[in-house]
Amino acid sequence: MEEKIEVHGPTKVSGVLPVSGAKNSVLKLMAATLLATGESTITNVPEIQDVTIMAELLRRLGCTVRYDPAQQTVDIDVPEVLGHQADYDLVRAMRASISVLGPLVARCHRAEVALPGGDAIGSRGLDMHRAGLEAMGAKLSIERGFLRASVADNLHGTTYHLDYPSVGATENLMMAAALADGTTVLENAAREPEIVDIGRMMQAMGAHIDGLGTSTITIEGAQKLHPVTHRTVPDRIVAGTWAFAAAVTGGRVEIEGAEPAHLTMVLEKLRGAGCTIDTSQGRFIVQGPERPTAINVSTLPYPGFPTDLQPFVVALNAVAEGSGMVTENVFEARWGFTAELERLGARVRLDGHHARVDGFPRNSSPEHRSRPRTSEREPRWPSWAWRPRGSQRSPGSSISTADTNTSWIACRMPGPRFSGASWAACSREKTELRGVPERGYAPLTGWRVTPFMAVAAHRG
Ligand code: UD1
Repeated sequence: MEEKIEVHGPTKVSGVLPVSGAKNSVLKLMAATLLATGESTITNVPEIQDVTIMAELLRRLGCTVRYDPAQQTVDIDVPEVLGHQADYDLVRAMRASISVLGPLVARCHRAEVALPGGDAIGSRGLDMHRAGLEAMGAKLSIERGFLRASVADNLHGTTYHLDYPSVGATENLMMAAALADGTTVLENAAREPEIVDIGRMMQAMGAHIDGLGTSTITIEGAQKLHPVTHRTVPDRIVAGTWAFAAAVTGGRVEIEGAEPAHLTMVLEKLRGAGCTIDTSQGRFIVQGPERPTAINVSTLPYPGFPTDLQPFVVALNAVAEGSGMVTENVFEARWGFTAELERLGARVRLDGHHARVDGFPRNSSPEHRSRPRTSEREPRWPSWAWRPRGSQRSPGSSISTADTNTSWIACRMPGPRFSGASWAACSREKTELRGVPERGYAPLTGWRVTPFMAVAAHRG
């Protein structure tokens, strides 16, 4: 089954919008529950397919997992004796599966995790995950597509300097260090709010961690941790998505449940594009300008501009006054979506990790109508996977989804596809964006697309 989104422009994205728990946090929180025997509960869980994949992975390791999307909770009962293997079908379906590596080595003294390989946005190496665990005494090897790690007894504390503040490596090493003998110091560690969230959950489990949110994180290994209930931090990328949707379409959104302090750099850039932003008195309101001004943005690790919001900058510049330079410093290949935006009429010139985007007058019809690609397959759903809900329509909305068997014509990644939707909303005509992303992001209906439909229904 595949979905089609119809965007009838011109329209403004306006309304009151809730923000879910962070995808980039919840999957790691689920992995962190492996550190303690017993039942942990995670709340504010977003309704996304990746959660069902992580739930399946934990079940195969021996956990009992109850995921209740309606209540936005996941209960994970972790047994005393755990399995130690993460299979390829799951790791391939969701890269974040690699985050069980650290907890498994810490708990079981061995782990076998299928290698995820690169993906559409970059090669995504694991060298720091490996080198950090080796510095803590583990032996690592790659055999028949699996990363195998083992240690005779407990891991031991060490000082490890990351080459780059990698989010995934910082998380894995922090979790591994929580049950190691002695003290581990991670230098040049990632500072993302999701790292702080995982660290706070681990502190509540009894871990001794200092320096969360700074470049030096110190973890004093504990003998044992205990299960907890923990609320997932709000998704700053979803909040940023709404903010950009308002900025691109000249709408007004009031974002509920988000943490504006996690978006300081993003909001600064949006102000530069002409948005009015009010974060006083517990409110988070973004009013887009009649037409945005193009902005220059370089993506960087937190607190820099997040790479996950980079596609929206390209979409914004595509309808803006002037030209903007966008530089991608985190993932070397995160430009696939620009070809799709160009098919909608955007003017983008790529040069290595830079994209120069020239503003296209708002309300001009896209020059090129989108055409189906015939080479793409329909997505296949494993039997345990969360499935898209099928045909949905928001009454009065200018955006709708419907089942269709046609081939893909839009980008596969969520941000870019959504940036395409924002851009299409500025057009005078109907634009069809087709194709649900094939893998972990598939239920965009529950995460990003449905809220987009909802705001369209409230458009001003
Ligand atoms: C996480 C997020 C992703 C976000 C990214 C950066 C999840 C599920 N994904 O991805 O949405 O865009 O952080 O904020 O949480 N690298 C190496 N060797 C390593 C580790 C990383 O070369 O051992 C490279 C990667 O290839 C990439 C860069 O470092 O170019 C950043 O990777 P990292 O910060 O680890 O991102 P992820 O954890 O993969």
